[in-house]
Amino acid sequence: MPTRAALAHIPGPPAPPVIGHTLTIARDSYGTQKEYIRRYGPVYKTRMLGVWRVNLCGPDALEMVLMDKDRIFSSEGGWDALRPIYPGGLILQDFDGHRQNRRIMQAAFRANAIRDYRARMAETMVALLADWPVDRTFCFYTAIKELTLRIGGAVFMGLPLDGDLARKINRAIGNEIRASVTPIRTPLPFTPMWHGMRGRDFLRETFRKMIPERRASGGEDFFSQMCLAKDEDGVGWSEQQIVDQFNLLIMAAHDTTATTLSVIMAALGGHTDWQEKLAAEVAGLGDGPLDEEALGKMTETDKVFREALRLVPPVPFIPRMALRDFRWQGFDIPAGTSLALNPGVTMLSPELFSNPEAFDPDRFSPERAEDRVHRFAWTPFGGGAHKCIGMHFAAMQVKLFVATILRQRRIELVGGAPEWQRMPIPKPKGGLPLILSAR
Ligand code: HEM
Repeated sequence: MPTRAALAHIPGPPAPPVIGHTLTIARDSYGTQKEYIRRYGPVYKTRMLGVWRVNLCGPDALEMVLMDKDRIFSSEGGWDALRPIYPGGLILQDFDGHRQNRRIMQAAFRANAIRDYRARMAETMVALLADWPVDRTFCFYTAIKELTLRIGGAVFMGLPLDGDLARKINRAIGNEIRASVTPIRTPLPFTPMWHGMRGRDFLRETFRKMIPERRASGGEDFFSQMCLAKDEDGVGWSEQQIVDQFNLLIMAAHDTTATTLSVIMAALGGHTDWQEKLAAEVAGLGDGPLDEEALGKMTETDKVFREALRLVPPVPFIPRMALRDFRWQGFDIPAGTSLALNPGVTMLSPELFSNPEAFDPDRFSPERAEDRVHRFAWTPFGGGAHKCIGMHFAAMQVKLFVATILRQRRIELVGGAPEWQRMPIPKPKGGLPLILSAR
């Protein structure tokens, strides 16, 4: 890791001893970033949790680092903080090894497999949403996290909805996720990291025990698909690889979807014109099954989904580590430097999007296509070799949810539009209280 002296030529704000910029950035990460870009330009350094990091801002930096044509930038080094909980996951791999494993994982995202997930998810969603309160205020963020975890038990693992095992697994997943973002990285007893590591061990053991049966009889869930998955050369995964890859997959799928659905609900509650437009789109689908054809017709919902991801992306920063020296915008950056890319603030740039803070899904209409001004203007799913493998699955889940809710309910915000916590996991401050009433 380069010392402060090796980065002396990179501009940046003065860093208070020990804590550096940790608290300032944690308090208001977007405001701080915008201010630092204004003062120092699109390349500046900050110090967080004891690590000096060079921030490379804007769409050109996203393109250069994520496309990585000279194989300089390591995702494994960038996401190092995830290693204790998710060793061996796709995002903690680079280059040829990553590509080979990604090909195998791709098998679990085949069209046939996705069709099965969709059918199971549609059914599960109706059952779970039937239990949600009507005409009474409830905290949407808590409810949606619970719902996505329970759907995950069924769709990702093929478990019964209310089984004891599904409950234990969900608790362990929650503990892992909390551990992956905790600032105290040592697993001292009863700290989040300690709970997270215990959760990891429990999940590894549980998944491992499920493998022989799933290998023998298959199943229409992600886990079974991953047990059977093979690349074009017929190569599949060992038990350890299945366990590690699956563990990362459920983490990658969970909070991202819960955050996106929260942003969409807040937007529809605050913009009743869009709520009614989407309700009409859903009504136009009739009462039939929400199959591929029906979801394909939800073009207005798709615009809202894209706009939600632009305004509050679940992954607003993408970390990498430089494996070799490189030069960017006139700055020499040494090997070993931790880098931060900023898709979140980039997607709020007035140079790329008109009136960027406003909720305006029509900016994605074919006539306006604001996201096309730069190949990396709209990047909630990243890009290049590590681009989100679950993006179509996420879109499907969002559409199923929106259609299921709007077929029956009207959404009303309690207490107005929420503010958003941006770090470590984007979520609505105050939990997004709202009321659902009969439509
Ligand atoms: C709205 C929801 C989602 C968002 C915004 C999102 C965002 C992202 C981003 C930005 C990356 C790239 C990170 C990087 O380059 O360092 C990524 C990777 C990944 N995502 Fe998603 N994701 C979402 C949903 C999902 C879902 C539903 C799944 C699984 C079903 C999933 C599985 C993954 C996996 C496995 C990776 C690692 C890919 C690799 O390293 O090759 N994600 N996601």
